[in-house]
Amino acid sequence: MFEKLFSAPPDEILELMQAFRNDPRPNKIDLGVGVYKDHNGYTPIMKAIKVAEKKLWASETTKSYVGLTGDIEFHQVMIDLILGNTIIPQRIAAAATPGGTGALRQGLELIKIANPRATIWLSDPTWPNHPSIAEHLELKVAKYRYFNKLSQSVSFDEMLIDLSNAKEGDVVLLHGCCHNPTGANLNHSQWVALAELLCEKRLVPLIDIAYQGFGDGLEEDTKGLRHLSENLPEVIIASSCSKNFGIYRERTGIILLISDKKCQKKINQDMLAFLNRNSFSFPPDHGSRLVTIVLQDNTLRKNWEEELRKIRSGMIENRNALARELRSRTGSDHFGFLSEHRGMFSLLGFSEDKVSELRFKHGIYMVSDSRVNIAALSKTTIPILAEAIISVGL
Ligand SMILES: Cc1ncc(COP(=O)(O)O)c(C=O)c1O
Repeated sequence: MFEKLFSAPPDEILELMQAFRNDPRPNKIDLGVGVYKDHNGYTPIMKAIKVAEKKLWASETTKSYVGLTGDIEFHQVMIDLILGNTIIPQRIAAAATPGGTGALRQGLELIKIANPRATIWLSDPTWPNHPSIAEHLELKVAKYRYFNKLSQSVSFDEMLIDLSNAKEGDVVLLHGCCHNPTGANLNHSQWVALAELLCEKRLVPLIDIAYQGFGDGLEEDTKGLRHLSENLPEVIIASSCSKNFGIYRERTGIILLISDKKCQKKINQDMLAFLNRNSFSFPPDHGSRLVTIVLQDNTLRKNWEEELRKIRSGMIENRNALARELRSRTGSDHFGFLSEHRGMFSLLGFSEDKVSELRFKHGIYMVSDSRVNIAALSKTTIPILAEAIISVGL
């Protein structure tokens, strides 16, 4: 039987991490992997999480199973974090999942049951796991134009044109904020126009929000998503706590199903439990409990929000500093888009050859589409990167 198996296509980012580790050059710079790093190149455990771990250790009396969809208190704090009080609880079904990836997987599984003929519309470009999971589930996938490589901004008109070709019941996968890999995001009036199109064409949004708080703020980053949730009959949200709580390996995420019919909630909730049972039974609990402790405790919550604010402003400072450095060295505003983008990533707009040159000549590692992790830059590495960019040519 095993001889029928095939080697999975290599994961570019994991290969890049390995190549970086093997590179003996002391001044090498890793801008590849999508993990937040402080100015020492370290991914710290957030202070509030450390305190929550101590609290949990002291208070937890059992490791027995929780429910199939996880702990209800986790659902409540996450619904509040993502949606505020915009949607009444009677409209929302929720399930804890292993990370945001788990939530996406369950969302796509659910779509396959509800409407196997649905096409999943993905932004071009998008996070590679989106097509990978959808295709693995044998769902039909189509792309909508999202990014204008010349202006390095959202090509909204083209996006609407492509989505106007979607058929009733199709699903549109959207990045709630901090688009990965482009860093280019919809503004509020674009979210409003998009909501109108989705409503008119009866399309269902699947919103992937993996970076809430990394863009413009915890509330600001959900404005588009909240608008869609308030104005459309059905919305699916896949949220990750990996980045904004810094608990990557704890595998903490949540899927929300929002329906305009209150009577639908029980069926949706049962379906999420069914999907969890048939994939992994009970979702991981440790990370979701830490998130719950932080969000329920006023002091810890303030502390977490403050640390998150510093992470966010650090990334914006890095963006501005790199744009300034490149402006002063080139005399042009070619890289001004870096200041406009939000989140951990931007595409520098380089060909694969230039990306290789940056790696082999300068020890600077980035994804082959020229996606850089802005959070991984520092005061020391920004001038080095700028110099290398100039040397490979714009
Ligand atoms: C766009 C996007 N969605 C979802 C995720 C899921 O993250 P995780 O499964 O680690 O929570 C990521 C992580 O890199 C991401 O970039």
